[in-house]
Amino acid sequence: MTVHFIGAGPGAPDLLTLRGRDRIAASPVCLYAGSLVPAALLDHCPPDARIVNTAPMDLDEIVAAIAQAHTEGKDVARLHSGDLSIWSAMGEQIRRLRELDIPFTITPGVPAFAAAAAALEAELTVPTVAQSLVLTRTSGRASAMPEGESLVGFAATGSTLAIHLSIHNLAGVVADLLPHYGGDCPVAVVWRASWPDERIVRATLETVEQAVDGSMERTALILVGPGLDGSKFAQSSLYSTGYDRRFRPQSADSAFSGREL
Ligand SMILES: C[S@@+](CC[C@H](N)C(=O)[O-])C[C@H]1O[C@@H](n2cnc3c(N)ncnc32)[C@H](O)[C@@H]1O
Repeated sequence: MTVHFIGAGPGAPDLLTLRGRDRIAASPVCLYAGSLVPAALLDHCPPDARIVNTAPMDLDEIVAAIAQAHTEGKDVARLHSGDLSIWSAMGEQIRRLRELDIPFTITPGVPAFAAAAAALEAELTVPTVAQSLVLTRTSGRASAMPEGESLVGFAATGSTLAIHLSIHNLAGVVADLLPHYGGDCPVAVVWRASWPDERIVRATLETVEQAVDGSMERTALILVGPGLDGSKFAQSSLYSTGYDRRFRPQSADSAFSGREL
């Protein structure tokens, strides 16, 4: 018996890996985080699967449901939205599974920030302007931010910020970032990226609060940084015509000439 943690992706049912789909199809028990996991993914479960929405359950109840499947010798597909490496609560579950000696696997998923970038038709790391992406959030009821991981601190680096779990605190985000990025810094807010009702608001730090105007809650990502202006960046050396590289030696004297690819 194995518990398969599966990243369920950002919302669109076809943004699921083939491995994830196959593990759901092979597991007689499915536990899914109902608040964000699209219901259509449950269509991959076997016809007689036991399907449990864990949204109203606490950790002990979830572990008990897994332990019951373990006793029955039934594999479990455990679905969380996006990818499992960020804000999935997988960490506390696998810690308990290790204590109970219950084996598990982990199948990554498409994270919300990648779906939001796709919706914006944006590369988030563009040459010379933005080479770092900070995945972060602001303090919430469920967990406070560790000291040293403040928005103000990240802002001082000038990198692109992908701010999760914070749309309710848009005013606080703007107040923290304005002094560092300036009022004309591009901001994009993507609500329910990849869902049929996806919405995008493009604005600046100065205008974003008015542009959103309280119309978005919960499932929104706030992206901030000069790199979001899709025009003002240099072309990369990698694809420039004269750039000498292993796959495209520029002359017979090139250090890369005659090397195996
Ligand atoms: C609990 S976290 C889950 C993150 C997820 N594990 C991931 O890989 O993206 C939930 C937050 O992620 C963001 N989020 C999740 N799905 C989203 C989507 N489809 N569009 C925009 N933001 C999303 C929102 O900021 C939301 O508050």
